Amino acid sequence: MLHCRRTAAYWLMAAGVILTEMAAAQSGARPWMNKSATAEQRAHLLVQAMTLDEKITMMHGVQPIPIQGYVGYVPPNTRLGIPALTEADGRAGVGNGATQVTLLPAPIAAASSWDPGLLNAYGRVLGEEEWKKGTDVALSPSIDVVRVPEWGRTFESYGEDPYFNGQMAQFEIRGIQSQGPIANANMYVTMNQESNRFKEDSIVDERTLHEIYLTPFAAAVKEAHVGTVMCAYVKTNEVYSCANADLLTQMLRKELHFDGFVMSDWGATHSTVDAAEAGLDQEMPGDKYFGADLKAAVQSGRVSQSVIDERVEQILTPMFRQGLFDKANTGNWSADVTTPEHASFSRWASEEGSVLLKNEGGLLPLAKNVSIAVIGEAGGVKPKAEGSGSSGVKAPYIVSPVDGLRKAADAGTSITYVEGGDLVAAADAARNATVAIVFVHTDETEGSDRPNLMLPGDQDQMIEAVAKANRKTIVVLNTGGPVLMPWVDQVSGIIEAWYPGQEDGNAIAAILYGDVDPSAKLPLTFPRSSTAIPTASQQQWPGIDGRSVYSEKLDVGYRWYDATRTQPLFPFGFGLSYTTFHLSDLMVSPAQVEPGRSFQNVIVRVSVTNTGKRAGAEVVQVYVGQPAPNGEPPHQLQAFDKVDLKPGETKAIALSLDQRSFSIYDVDAREWKTPAGTYQILLGTSSRDLPLHGEITIAR
Ligand code: BGC
Repeated sequence: MLHCRRTAAYWLMAAGVILTEMAAAQSGARPWMNKSATAEQRAHLLVQAMTLDEKITMMHGVQPIPIQGYVGYVPPNTRLGIPALTEADGRAGVGNGATQVTLLPAPIAAASSWDPGLLNAYGRVLGEEEWKKGTDVALSPSIDVVRVPEWGRTFESYGEDPYFNGQMAQFEIRGIQSQGPIANANMYVTMNQESNRFKEDSIVDERTLHEIYLTPFAAAVKEAHVGTVMCAYVKTNEVYSCANADLLTQMLRKELHFDGFVMSDWGATHSTVDAAEAGLDQEMPGDKYFGADLKAAVQSGRVSQSVIDERVEQILTPMFRQGLFDKANTGNWSADVTTPEHASFSRWASEEGSVLLKNEGGLLPLAKNVSIAVIGEAGGVKPKAEGSGSSGVKAPYIVSPVDGLRKAADAGTSITYVEGGDLVAAADAARNATVAIVFVHTDETEGSDRPNLMLPGDQDQMIEAVAKANRKTIVVLNTGGPVLMPWVDQVSGIIEAWYPGQEDGNAIAAILYGDVDPSAKLPLTFPRSSTAIPTASQQQWPGIDGRSVYSEKLDVGYRWYDATRTQPLFPFGFGLSYTTFHLSDLMVSPAQVEPGRSFQNVIVRVSVTNTGKRAGAEVVQVYVGQPAPNGEPPHQLQAFDKVDLKPGETKAIALSLDQRSFSIYDVDAREWKTPAGTYQILLGTSSRDLPLHGEITIAR
């Protein structure tokens, strides 16, 4: 049975809107329906025709939502032909309880592919399913830089590097917006912990804010023209994000030239006048501050008409640009939007995102006739395919790892399964098989951080018991972020498969058996201990008296490990393959560049050879080390490229570095500067494996 339908009254009303709109457009009574005008012009014309009540209506959601589905809703305006605005969650597929949708691997898994093309396809799948469900604004992607490894929403994000997150964000956003919905860059900004998330105050200096935390949003706005931004629950430097003029007006509008609308996270609005003046356009999900109170504030002159007009214009602009006025969204919440193609994409994305961290003695890939003991809840009875919270997706099915392996193995091969709670039974199963594969997981969720970086429960003991019984033990991690591995030297293989989505078992079987060569890389550092991390003090996380102090400044993620010469367990950018690669012939040109408007991009050329016997892909990473006086971390990722290579094949590739790669944010001048000096170009296959060096000089 189809479980949810828009009511007949809704459809009559919607049809009414469209018909009136068409008639009016023909008569010229609605000049904003003239498609040859720009989105901004059309929005401006429409605002002129709106009453104050009509404007206020656009500036908040309604609760409860009068139609089924979605998590945010702004009603249509029949008088003027403004369509309703439906907003739905979904970072790894359509959320809010929608069924007949595809569960993709978590965004952190997709990002681990280091393949912008994959992120674009991820956005297209998500955007298409949202659109067919009738969603106008897809509340995706989450692009915050992961500052705290325990952050409960790490799985929803892309990792710890600002440039990298910006790349992933822009490709996913373009994918989403190409399918109909307006995308939403969230959560703006310094949303780096769940502990105390409704009140937490992030104390962060201007330079760090610009260079680290704003960077992904800059890419989303400038490169992908994202239509909406969601302001976060937390405060930045004492002011709530959704009433923070520095964040919303100075940085987002003036510096990044954002021309869409800012909606509040659900319940993140705390004021009327302050929020409206600071730059919030739309309160979600209801009208506590932006309903009657906002109207009263306008009528009493505490908020000016022009502020309201500007806010509403900003809401209407992406609606026009995205075509919401010109093509009716005929999707609906009860549509079956998953397809076999989307399911195969989900599988492929998980295969491309699974990171091989250890492969002692070349145990992997496995032959299809070796006997296997699959151990652990996530391996069978309770596959851990996704994280929890508002990004949750109702998967149509989940292929468990044991089922995936049984399907892929040769007929007659013994593949046993135990849950692993009983350590003696787990060890026995491991002893009786050639290879033991232990599946372990974390339960990450929005709303709380992980208490520490250990695997929860007895899972470490389970791995140790199994590894003692059978050295040929492979650990598959179904986690959303880094975990400590006290057993790292006791096992033969480790794969970080993240939260892999509905095709879990099929994808991991393809990796384990080598039907697919692993080519993913970590988008964040795995630490050796809970104290050897950038945010180890309580003052940094979870904060003292509600304040989390960003005292590590620019040294976020691998930058801190490098600056403090701390050995990570597995570094940012790291991941193994079943084949091997060699990089050679680095050439950087030109040797000297002039800063300024006519900055000539620096081209980094290198040859990559597959020196092994299998086809595979390597991710070439370019880091820039700035001159010491610039006061930057030792080196920072500024370009990367994933190269597919047949055995023995060599490809010459070229990567481009723009002026931003050689810049710092000057707080006093409030602008980016490119100081003169010699910059190191470091090239390799992880932040800790950079064998090729070149340099360029920025002229004075
Ligand atoms: C989350 C957002 C989400 C919203 C609507 C909030 O709690 O932080 O990411 O989009 O709820 O479900």
